[in-house]
Amino acid sequence: MTTNTQLSTKHVLGIKYLTPADIQLIFETADQFKEVINRPIKKVPSLRDVTVANLFFENSTRTRISFELAEKRLSADVVNFSAASSSVKKGETLLDTVNNILSMKVDMVVMRHPAPGAPAYLARHIDANIINAGDGTHEHPTQALLDAFSIREQLGDLRGKKIAIIGDILHSRVALSNIYCLQKMGATVRVCGPPTLIPKHIAKLGVEVSYNTRETLEWCDVANILRIQLERQDIKYFPSLREYARYFGVNKQLLNELNSEVVIMHPGPINRGVEITSDVADSDQSIILQQVENGVAIRMAILYLLAAKRPN
Ligand code: CP
Repeated sequence: MTTNTQLSTKHVLGIKYLTPADIQLIFETADQFKEVINRPIKKVPSLRDVTVANLFFENSTRTRISFELAEKRLSADVVNFSAASSSVKKGETLLDTVNNILSMKVDMVVMRHPAPGAPAYLARHIDANIINAGDGTHEHPTQALLDAFSIREQLGDLRGKKIAIIGDILHSRVALSNIYCLQKMGATVRVCGPPTLIPKHIAKLGVEVSYNTRETLEWCDVANILRIQLERQDIKYFPSLREYARYFGVNKQLLNELNSEVVIMHPGPINRGVEITSDVADSDQSIILQQVENGVAIRMAILYLLAAKRPN
């Protein structure tokens, strides 16, 4: 694949809108920033004249801290907005909120919102570069990029690798972004979970579908395990968490019985004892904390590449 020197887009709204060359460029730029953040002086001046607003209309630990660190390590000016303590509570619309923030000369917006399509809506109405930090059950592009980057770091290349995504696929934005990203980079993807938590027509995306965790773990090189998103579930999709853990949870005994060693991933937050046991999450097979570490380098790469597309 030839590497471009610029992204094909001025926003990162979803992996669906990135080309394989864009993803490759983000990976190669993140390789360089990973080196930077492992130096004693972790800061570079690349975004010195850029102001970034982190607009979080939904809870976050990893994504929010990771973006803020990435921005600060690039020397950007940073403002943080949390819907819970804002005038959104007084009835202000999304567009009014963002236009007020932009009038204070903000260049880039990182946004997490419960409504699918909210970052795309903003991109149609404002001038700033928009990065989607998770929109409802739709996409979480930076998570998929850091996941794929972490797999590449472990296995060398994504082409031909077998990646399983196990858990609540129906309510997951991480699953959809991972499917797009892994397939664009040449991996084969299988989703696994209870039939009630797998979208009916997902095979049309070109993924394999399984309802058998053991058989899926035997098949894959990497298992990305997702939590049950109880906060998005309006009805009961399975009888109990205990039954879910028994049939779809990943535990050490199950992993020990497999013929080969699987790389274990999880985007967080983890529900220990439900989709994954502590002895798996904290084992040598798990790269969960490497994923978090790589998130900063990936987000630095995206911010840097989008800033390069801004007019001087
Ligand atoms: N993986 C992820 O999006 O975690 P947060 O919800 O804590 O940001």
